[in-house]
Amino acid sequence: MNLIFLGPPGAGKGTHAKVICEKFGVLQLAAGDILRKNVKEGTSLGLQAKAVMERGALVSDELVNNMMFAEILALKSSKGFILDGYPRTIVQAEALKKFFAKEKIALTAVINFMAPEEVLVDRLSGRRGCPKCGKIYHVRNMPPKKDGICDRDGEKLTIRKDDEPETIRHRLKVYHESTKPLVEFYRKTGLLHDVLAGGDAPSVQKILEKLFEKIH
Ligand code: AP5
Repeated sequence: MNLIFLGPPGAGKGTHAKVICEKFGVLQLAAGDILRKNVKEGTSLGLQAKAVMERGALVSDELVNNMMFAEILALKSSKGFILDGYPRTIVQAEALKKFFAKEKIALTAVINFMAPEEVLVDRLSGRRGCPKCGKIYHVRNMPPKKDGICDRDGEKLTIRKDDEPETIRHRLKVYHESTKPLVEFYRKTGLLHDVLAGGDAPSVQKILEKLFEKIH
């Protein structure tokens, strides 16, 4: 099962990808997480991406395409993957289509996460993450058992630099300009499934699990 998770920042792509991966044995390839890892490690890719990410803009198509193609090839023999936050522009989607054809990889479905803008802003403003295991929390919707501490490994939770109010607004604008056109791009393929993702996490999870049992 090879999936694309499409949707605006804060729609829950990362949160739900992690749970779906555990349940269906597929692997998550989150473009943002891979880029942040490169920034942390100070690789040449990370050095080029850092400032762009901090202001909530998009990293160049060429850099992201090359990075994601290498990651996908490394997983080719697995049970499948979720591309979370990739592709994000028409140029990336066209390049991915060619890459899949060349590598004989079949795309199973594209999930289009949809939620009202005020919900997205609220979710991003309250997001906290574990720098060690990557688990995502929300101060109110999905709080850890102990304030500010990861339930899994006791690590201190952190706030993403691009979750500042002004950067959130810019990321939403970038989504509307560059990523939203992908909804129609994939609708034409017949593989797109719209998911109303503005509800609480258990109800969104239920919708997704039902959908995946059907398409698995
Ligand atoms: P990335 O890390 O991909 O960020 P994003 O797409 O902006 O998405 P988010 O991670 O913010 O949102 P999400 O939908 O995963 O929400 P989450 O599950 O965390 O990208 C970051 C940057 O990297 C980009 O700005 C760009 O610079 C660069 N980049 C990445 N990919 C690129 C590409 N392809 N091309 C170029 N540049 C690229 O949930 C958010 C919060 O809500 C959490 O606190 C969570 O607990 C809570 N929550 C989630 N679901 C629910 C629910 N159902 N109910 C209540 N709370 C919920």
